[in-house]
Amino acid sequence: MPQATYHFPRGFLWGTATSAYQVEGNNTNSNWYKWEQEPGRIIQEGKAGLACDWWNGRWREDFHRAAEGYQNAHRMSIEWSRIQPAPDRWDEEALDRYIQMVRGLVELNMTPLITLHHFSDPQWFVDRGGWEDEASAGYFEKYVRKVVQALKDYVGLWCTINEPNGYAIEGFLMGAFPPGKKDIRLTYKVMVNLVRAHAAAYHAIHQIQPQARVGIANYYRSIKPTKSWFLLDKLITNLVAGFNRVFPDAATDGMVRFLGKRARIREAKGTQDFLGIDYYTRDYVSFDLSKWNEFFIYRQFRPGTELSSTKFLANEPTGMYEALKWGLKYNIPIIVTENGFDDAEDRIRPRYLVEHIHQMWRGVNFTWPIKGYFHWTLVDNFEWERGWSQRFGLWGLDIETQSRHKRASADLYTEICRENGISDDMVKRYAPAALAELFPE
Ligand code: BGC
Repeated sequence: MPQATYHFPRGFLWGTATSAYQVEGNNTNSNWYKWEQEPGRIIQEGKAGLACDWWNGRWREDFHRAAEGYQNAHRMSIEWSRIQPAPDRWDEEALDRYIQMVRGLVELNMTPLITLHHFSDPQWFVDRGGWEDEASAGYFEKYVRKVVQALKDYVGLWCTINEPNGYAIEGFLMGAFPPGKKDIRLTYKVMVNLVRAHAAAYHAIHQIQPQARVGIANYYRSIKPTKSWFLLDKLITNLVAGFNRVFPDAATDGMVRFLGKRARIREAKGTQDFLGIDYYTRDYVSFDLSKWNEFFIYRQFRPGTELSSTKFLANEPTGMYEALKWGLKYNIPIIVTENGFDDAEDRIRPRYLVEHIHQMWRGVNFTWPIKGYFHWTLVDNFEWERGWSQRFGLWGLDIETQSRHKRASADLYTEICRENGISDDMVKRYAPAALAELFPE
């Protein structure tokens, strides 16, 4: 029998998060499809291919896996390029498939949280200038209206754009996502257009469905100075941490602020009903003269931290607490829209899970308005420019055969969702190394 449990409030949402391009397969009208064909863009020339084969119906078995694991919610996204394969064409059959999927969630008693844009764009939209063009918000709004009209009977929780800060930076500053540009002015321009698009979507959704709850999944990266006594490291920390604030600030007061530039987007003011936080990891930053081509910023993980299989992430659970505490200033409910670890062997993930959920519980215990947690992800999926090199799933995937295998973390997460909390008994069995810290004698 458990001796102690960290309990969550009744009705807390427990789920996993997925995104269309990463799980559906064969999204041939998306800009990512074209990007994948270009040599050198994806690690090991990976291709999404069939991905998790959801478009052919495997979403059914995966949703069952989630429901059997006591998950009561699921975050998934709609692929714009499927709904609107060409500027003058709506694909009703595709829309119908999404209706079936979302209805499938509801029938399994899982609350859907629907993301309307998760990194991928229709190729026609990109050809017309994409997010660099001011017309982008108008195009996006039309698509959003179409989707919301179709799904409104089943969905009340919407995320307009996934990690708009990450999207703009990866695509327009770092060049890792399409269109592969490295232009800081363009990054700013894209951010402004994304704020416009979010605001247009927010108002459109509320017009169609006044009771809707609409937010953004904000990428929050914990940033610390390597030398806390060194002014330049502190300045760099503030600069980098500014990326976390751009979108939630703009959705609060209607001002886009980015590296000393600002733009007022009046219609964006007050356009967030909940704050979505995607938290994964923490960086330590320092001022480094040799990094002149990277704005003099040197980033590293804390020496000695546990790293994920591909050294992409460090296990820094207190960053979760920090992110939630930071989020309080927006004075709206908070949902952890993503959190996870690439760990093919599932060696660290069980501990990562309980440690992060424990940090979230600390906030809940202070009655912070935290309403749900979505683990990234249900089944291994296509990880963008990292292709298939990373394994984030509670369930593993064999890409050749499409067979799934359960990782211990899936069983652990099942127990967490069933119990609506973490018990010492669970920690003893799945992550004994975390026991002393989470349940001190
Ligand atoms: C993104 C996901 C991605 C995950 C892990 C998040 O930033 O929203 O699409 O798969 O990170 O890389």
